[in-house]
Amino acid sequence: MKVTIIGTGYVWLTHGTCLAELENDVICVDIDINKIEQLKQWIIPIFEPKLSNLVIKNHRAWRLNFSTDVKSAIDVSDIIFIAVGTPPGPDGHADMQYVKQVAQDIWKYINKYTIIVTKSTVPVGTWDMITNIISAGIRYRWMQIDFDVASNPEFLREWTAVDDFKNSDRVVIWCNDENGKAVQMLKRLYSPLKNTEILVTDMYSAELIKYWANSLLAVQVSFINAISRLCEKLWADVNKVAKWLRLDWRIWHKAFLTAWPGFGGSCFPKDVMEFAQTFEDNWIPNGILQATLDINEQQKYAIFIKIKRLLDWNLEWKTVSILWLAFKSNTDDIRYSPSIVVINELLKKNAKIKCYDPKAMNNFKNMYPDLDYCDDMYIAVTDSDCMVVMTDWDEFKQPDWEKIISLMKRKNVVDARNIYDKSVLINMWFNYIGVWI
Ligand SMILES: NC(=O)c1ccc[n+]([C@@H]2O[C@H](COP(=O)([O-])OP(=O)(O)OC[C@H]3O[C@@H](n4cnc5c(N)ncnc54)[C@H](O)[C@@H]3O)[C@@H](O)[C@H]2O)c1
Repeated sequence: MKVTIIGTGYVWLTHGTCLAELENDVICVDIDINKIEQLKQWIIPIFEPKLSNLVIKNHRAWRLNFSTDVKSAIDVSDIIFIAVGTPPGPDGHADMQYVKQVAQDIWKYINKYTIIVTKSTVPVGTWDMITNIISAGIRYRWMQIDFDVASNPEFLREWTAVDDFKNSDRVVIWCNDENGKAVQMLKRLYSPLKNTEILVTDMYSAELIKYWANSLLAVQVSFINAISRLCEKLWADVNKVAKWLRLDWRIWHKAFLTAWPGFGGSCFPKDVMEFAQTFEDNWIPNGILQATLDINEQQKYAIFIKIKRLLDWNLEWKTVSILWLAFKSNTDDIRYSPSIVVINELLKKNAKIKCYDPKAMNNFKNMYPDLDYCDDMYIAVTDSDCMVVMTDWDEFKQPDWEKIISLMKRKNVVDARNIYDKSVLINMWFNYIGVWI
């Protein structure tokens, strides 16, 4: 099939590439000329494991193309995926300006029956909005062109996006005619995914499901984070509590029961904000979602307090090493990263910051050009008063502690992911604070 993806961002570049791998002709369109030029030269503008080889393979096979020419892409496509960003607006609602812009492009250039699919995470009611914009536009052109708008929310995760696509457990589809052409074509598009259940549902359910899924996961994260802070006060061990909880068959074995420095990334924060607003708009108290967001902010701030505690409550001109800046490991995505909150607080107190991340430093440099960016973790801890671990890259879980001792000015470690063995560090005379103590 001929497929266009409009918006070649973090997840949609993967989605488009994987659709090409299934032998579809895919054009990834973006308004960012630099990004498209880089992609044409096989320079992948984001870090996503396993993606680079697939892009090269499918581009070489002429199945995957990159373009800024939205008109030509719309001209030749059977299916158009709208995959632009939906960041939070000032009131917490998703900002729909990019989606509206794409709908405008579609009515201007559509010239034959086309299926338009919303892949961006969008609030309930977006189907009507897109349908109305395109219908009105086509009428304005004095034309009669058939089209269907379908909803097909995306569940890929950054870091494991390629495998998530190949092993999707579910594909959710909605279109106004359940047995119509659009649903049949989308089912055909995803049919090579052998272990995937294709759910055809009603419109509002399709648009709600993604927000519900992300909000449920975020609630779990904030709940365990709140419990971790209680554990700290009561001298209990949150890891042990979580381990025992998992033994209870009523608790979902994949539940998020690991204390984090707070969730970040492009999805959880903005989707929980939007979902909370949707509750408010419908006059239903959104207490659980607001509490989830509040706990998340407190959890990020709590890391800063731990740094202060280790540095005798005085951060002026102290050197703090922030290790790993992205919102999680194996990505270069820094959107809503907990590191941002910690670094802002440290800067307010005039601390000197050295930092390191294997993939996210360039993105961070755009935001904070004046920090001291180091080439590896050992350079980052040199002359440092405190080492702060924000994410959990596997390759850094067993560092050379003797070397670190020889390099640091003072032996202080804040481990916001509990990746190190506390007893090992305490035996080496480190002052160590993890998530529970
Ligand atoms: N990132 C994830 O893990 C993830 C997972 C599932 C769903 N989603 C959803 O997918 C959507 C996109 O997320 P993302 O993280 O990929 O965003 P992103 O910001 O990385 O990418 C959006 C892209 O759209 C482009 N764009 C904006 N307006 C355009 C236009 N008019 N024409 C062509 N291109 C345009 C931008 O230049 C940018 O490259 C969001 O709704 C998000 O909630 C994201």
